[in-house]
Amino acid sequence: MRMLGALFNRDQEALRCPYPIFDELRADAAVVYHDGLGAWIATGYDAVRTILRDTDNWSSLSPTSPGPRESAMTTAMATLSKEPAMAEAFEKMLSGRRTAAVLLNADPPEHVRQRRVVNAAFRPARIRALEPTVRQRSDELVAEFAGRGTVEFVSEYAVLLPMRIIADALGVGDDDLLMFKKWSDDLVIPIGNAAPSVDQVRDFIMSTQAFSDYFSDKLEQRSRTPQNDLVSDVANAELDGERLTHAEQISMCQQFLVAGNETTTKLITNMANRFAAEPGLQQAIDSNRSLIAPFVEESLRFEAPVQGLYRQAKRDVSVDGVTIPAGNHVWVVYAAGNRDADKFECPNDFKPLRPNSREHLSFGNGEHFCIGAGLARSEAQVAVETMLDYMPGLRHAARHEMAYEDSFILRGLKTLDLDFDPPV
Ligand code: HEM
Repeated sequence: MRMLGALFNRDQEALRCPYPIFDELRADAAVVYHDGLGAWIATGYDAVRTILRDTDNWSSLSPTSPGPRESAMTTAMATLSKEPAMAEAFEKMLSGRRTAAVLLNADPPEHVRQRRVVNAAFRPARIRALEPTVRQRSDELVAEFAGRGTVEFVSEYAVLLPMRIIADALGVGDDDLLMFKKWSDDLVIPIGNAAPSVDQVRDFIMSTQAFSDYFSDKLEQRSRTPQNDLVSDVANAELDGERLTHAEQISMCQQFLVAGNETTTKLITNMANRFAAEPGLQQAIDSNRSLIAPFVEESLRFEAPVQGLYRQAKRDVSVDGVTIPAGNHVWVVYAAGNRDADKFECPNDFKPLRPNSREHLSFGNGEHFCIGAGLARSEAQVAVETMLDYMPGLRHAARHEMAYEDSFILRGLKTLDLDFDPPV
């Protein structure tokens, strides 16, 4: 399992194609223990799905790392706590008034209550109502480069579309967008990177605190004067006469930023990259646009933007004949389940007409199923239409270099240089 170590160390070769590593693990057993990670790894479709659906036995309290083994973060924090300039940030962080376990990292019964409070904000009618804004934002972005016939697709489109949509939903104005982007970048630093540098951890802490200050004001404003946006929903939502606590509200906004932004960027980038890599596919979908939705689903199956998250056993649990002791963590690899040949025929072939693509695990499964899946699908649909309408003949530019982000959990290209035929 030499390559598995390389993947956890974020070696580019392993990041570029982790799927043979997952295949090798799965051939051994659906769940295996890995010393280097300090956790079990679930790669079989049924095992992944079973763990995700079983919140009685599995906790989500630490979804992005297998707990205390992630000691580089703890060591960096100890170093930083001695810096006078960091004193205020640490005081706020440790006061515990600013963060709470919500949604992604909450367990029942809190999770069930929180989810009921915010489900309405993501219901299909609400997502449909957002669609004209998604189109308008997409048109604004593409207008900047459509005439050029060439684009660095990640920074000029795929990052900006989901960020603008989530910024609109959270009431963040255009003037604050650069700051919002910095927070988004910094807040994901520890995800899939077990050895962040001291500078990275400093950025993470400072941005977490700045985000929290900004949204404390925003939530306060919206609770006095609600508007038709997500941040007003969070500020005013009630269940049985009870509101979310202030810390829950802040953590929820933070999660919408982190969970909704990077992930959708990666999906949109993967789809453009697929068009560039497979000549004829873009034209085939352009001439039959009912294929857009299946193309989006197969793209999600083929390259899960979140490769996998962790669960912790609440008690000894048996999965596929293997007993996992209480307290142990499992890295539940959606991306590996998506490539299990027992579930998806010829899983390493990209087939938009595959009958069961939509059964992929890229949005998770069970109670923690992605609350933003409808919004992500809607943005992806608009992004594909935009590529068909304004960027025909997508191909890799000669200057393109295939380099992946420095994380084994959030999988995506750093940049994507594309050429296309500018519409006449
Ligand atoms: C392609 C885009 C996206 C992908 C691949 C994705 C992936 C996921 C996955 C895998 C989970 C389940 C985590 C688990 O099993 O614990 C999840 C949950 C979540 N996602 Fe997404 N997501 C995307 C877009 C979004 C968007 C647009 C938003 C919000 C604006 C969002 C907000 C959330 C939240 C709040 C949760 C936690 C739900 C819960 O635990 O109840 N996501 N997402």
